[in-house]
Amino acid sequence: MVEEALRGARVVVTGAGGGIGAALARAFTAAGARVAVNDLTEESVRDLAAEIGAAVVPGDASGIVPAARDALGGGVDVFCANAGVGTGGGPEAEDAAWELAWDVNVMSHVRAARALLPEWLERGSGRFVSTVSAAGLLTMIGAAPYTVTKHGALAFAEWLSLTYRHRGIRVHAVCPQGVRTDMLTAAGIAGELVLAPTAIEPEEVAKAVLDGIADERFLILPHPEVAGFHAARATEPERWLRGMNKLQRLYEDRTGGKGEAV
Ligand SMILES: NC(=O)c1ccc[n+]([C@@H]2O[C@H](COP(=O)([O-])OP(=O)(O)OC[C@H]3O[C@@H](n4cnc5c(N)ncnc54)[C@H](O)[C@@H]3O)[C@@H](O)[C@H]2O)c1
Repeated sequence: MVEEALRGARVVVTGAGGGIGAALARAFTAAGARVAVNDLTEESVRDLAAEIGAAVVPGDASGIVPAARDALGGGVDVFCANAGVGTGGGPEAEDAAWELAWDVNVMSHVRAARALLPEWLERGSGRFVSTVSAAGLLTMIGAAPYTVTKHGALAFAEWLSLTYRHRGIRVHAVCPQGVRTDMLTAAGIAGELVLAPTAIEPEEVAKAVLDGIADERFLILPHPEVAGFHAARATEPERWLRGMNKLQRLYEDRTGGKGEAV
C-alpha cells in the first residue's frame, strides 16, 4: 500500500506553483505525507500551501534542500525534482536560454541529489522523483534545449538509480507527453500539434507517480503508448526519424516555415 509507505513521509515538491507540481503536492498530502512546496516566489505557492497544510520553501529549486529539511523537522524522505523550463528553439537560441534550461532541467537535480545523498546514504533510504518528460526519451519538435536537457535529466536519474539502489535509494523518472498546464499553453503550435491531442490532466500524472512508487518502478509513463515509441526509436532509428521529420514538416507548414520559440 503506497499510503502506508507515504504516511508521515517528508516530501519536497519543486515547481509546485501550478500544473504537475501542485497536483503532486496534493496527491502526496492525500496519501498522508508531510509536504513542503517550492516555487520561485512565495506568492505562487501560498494558496496551495494553505489549502493542503504544506510548508513553503521559496526560491530557486537548486538550493532549497537545507530549508526544506528545516521546514520538515530535520529530514527529507522524498524529493520531487519537478521544476522545469520549456525552452524552445534550436542552435540559434541564445546561450542564456540554453544555460537556463541546463540549470533548471538538469543541474537543479544534480544539486539537490548532492545535498540529499549524505542523509539518505547514512539512513539507507530516500526517494528521488524526477519529472522528466517524454521529450527525455524521444524528442520535442521545435525545442532543442528542452529535448537535450530532458535527455540529461533522464540520464542523471538512471545513473542515480543504478548507482545507489543497493543502498536503499529509489529513483523514479516520470515521462509524460502533453499535460494540461501553463507549460503546454506556452508551447504554442508545436504543443498543439504534438502534445495537445493526447494531453492529460496533472492529477493523472500525480496518480501515475503514486502508482509507480507503489510498484517501485523506475520509469513512470502516464501515457503508456510512449513505451512503444521509445522501443521504435531504439530498434528502428531511421524509420523513427522519418516519422518525426514528417511531424516537423507539418509544424513548418503551420508556422509558415519559420518555427517558433516555445
Ligand atoms: N506540461 C507538459 O506537457 C509536460 C510534459 C512533460 C513534462 N513536463 C514537465 O513537468 C514539470 C512541471 O511542468 P508543468 O507542466 O506543471 O508546467 P508549469 O509551468 O505549470 O510548472 C513549472 C513550474 O516550475 C517553476 N520553476 C521554473 N524554474 C524554477 C526554478 N529555478 N526553481 C523553482 N521553480 C521553478 C515555474 O515557476 C512553474 O511554476 C516540468 O519539469 C516540465 O518540463 C511537462
